[in-house]
Formats: sequence, structure tokens, C-alpha cells
Amino acid sequence: MNTQRAASSQAVLITGATSGIGLACVNYYTSQGFHVIACGRNESILNQLNTHHFLTFDITEPQQVTAASAALKQHLVQHDLSLVQVILNAGTCEYIENVFEFDSSLFSRVITTNLIAIGYCIEAFLPLMATGGQLGLMSSSATYLPFPRAEAYGASKAAISYLGRSLRLDLAAKPKKQIGVSVICPGFVKTPLTDKNDFAMPMRVSSEQAAQRIFEGMVKRQFEIHFPRRFTFILKCLSWLPEKLLIKILAEKSTK
Ligand SMILES: NC(=O)c1ccc[n+]([C@@H]2O[C@H](COP(=O)([O-])OP(=O)(O)OC[C@H]3O[C@@H](n4cnc5c(N)ncnc54)[C@H](OP(=O)(O)O)[C@@H]3O)[C@@H](O)[C@H]2O)c1
Repeated sequence: MNTQRAASSQAVLITGATSGIGLACVNYYTSQGFHVIACGRNESILNQLNTHHFLTFDITEPQQVTAASAALKQHLVQHDLSLVQVILNAGTCEYIENVFEFDSSLFSRVITTNLIAIGYCIEAFLPLMATGGQLGLMSSSATYLPFPRAEAYGASKAAISYLGRSLRLDLAAKPKKQIGVSVICPGFVKTPLTDKNDFAMPMRVSSEQAAQRIFEGMVKRQFEIHFPRRFTFILKCLSWLPEKLLIKILAEKSTK
């Protein structure tokens, strides 16, 4: 695969296609000539998208994911398509507001959507991927540092980054299929998800910019796709600080 316009027989499946980064990816990949298969829960939004095909399912419902996989298989065969990319982008974010009233149902919700459901999607879609394909897992630059109130979100995304590294090893051991893995670690991106945030979001980029970076990283088969670079560079540098100093800096910020 190269960065030139893709032949329309090259299909990409994108989850979370009804909003934010996923929606911007749908538009960007379509503009690059890919056969885009948009996935989401909201059929009326999916219906309005300018895509080749859509699949309606909730990623946290394994039976719905399995049914979507069967429908996808049929669609790929009928239209003689190669599934060259899968971008598991759908996710959620909720914060633990009071650590002494730790909300375990919130914790469970976030882990289920951001991690457990990714397992359902990998089980369903990885076997349908073409030789030389690229699997994108949506993590976050939040995984570089511990952030206040992010016990659920940060833990779910840190697990995704580990999952990506481990999957990459096991896929490398199956060289015939040549399937690569990208772990996507955005900084702040302007979407309905971050519009809810009540704190400063330095260097926030647009969802269109995010989609372009994801596209470029996926076609280059980069393992870690992180952006904006200046922001992720700062986070990575901070992560080298002694833990005590880090706690002081980040915990102080959370009280502002
Ligand atoms: N925005 C950022 O700054 C940022 C930074 C780092 C990582 N991320 C990650 O990027 C991904 C996309 O986030 P976003 O900012 O674009 O948020 P968003 O605008 O809220 O979009 C989230 C998408 O995920 C879908 N989704 C959520 N739960 C689902 C479920 N159970 N089944 C199927 N689809 C589901 C949503 O569908 P509905 O419309 O049906 O809810 C929506 O299409 C998330 O994984 C997020 O953690 C975002």
C-alpha cells in the first residue's frame, strides 16, 4: 500500500464513524479513494454519510459484532474487496470525580467500551483482513502520564497500548499474513467528546488534522501514531521525571 490514491477495491473499516475522529477519518479515507465501511450505533447518522457501506452495531454487544462480521464477509466477497485497514476507533471517556466515592460502574462502563469491546472487534474482524493489512487501535497520549480523574479512561487506553504491542508480536510470528498494528495516541482533538471537558486542552487539533495524521501513519504502517508531535514530545519528556516530582506537578494542577 502507498500514499497515492487507493484503488476502490481497497476497503477500510472504521468504528465510531458517527462522530469526531471516526467521522473525520471516514471523510478523509473517502477522499483518498478507499472503499469505506463506516460502523456505528446510530443508523440514521450512518445513513447520511457519504460512504460505500455501513454496519450498525454496538461494539459492547458480542452477538451484534459477530453478526456485523458475517455481513462484512459477504460484502467483501460480493464486491471483490480487500479489507486492507481496520481502525478500531470507537470509545468513550468518563472521569472519576471523587476518588473516595470511586464509581465502579463508571469504571466498568469505560473498560468495557474501550477495552473489552475491542477484543470482540479483533475476534470478528482480524480474520477478514487481507494479507499486508494494517490494524489501528485507538489509544491516547494520556497513556504517557497518569492524569487526575483518569483512572478508568487512562487504564483502558494503557491496556490498549499493551494489547497493540502484544498483538504485534504474535502477528509478526505469522509472516505469511503480514498484518501490521498501529497504536494511535492523539493529544487533544476537538470532538464532541472533548467539548465536554472543563479543563484547558493545550495544542488541541481539529478532527480533520487528526484524520490526516492517522491516515498517513496507517499507510506508512507506523507502530505508534502520535500527534501533535510537540505535545506528545512534552508528555514523553515529563514521563522521565521522578515519580514524586511528577505527582507534585500533576496533582497540583488538578486542584486548580
Ligand atoms: N478527542 C480526543 O482528544 C481524543 C484523544 C485521544 C483519544 N481519543 C479516542 O478517540 C476515539 C474517538 O473519540 P472522539 O473524540 O472522536 O469521540 P466522539 O466524538 O464521542 O466519538 C466516539 C465514537 O465512538 C462511538 N461509540 C461509543 N461507544 C460505542 C459503542 N458501545 N458501540 C459503538 N460505537 C460506540 C460513538 O458512537 P455514538 O455516537 O453512537 O455514541 C462515536 O461514533 C475514542 O476512542 C477516544 O478515546 C480521543
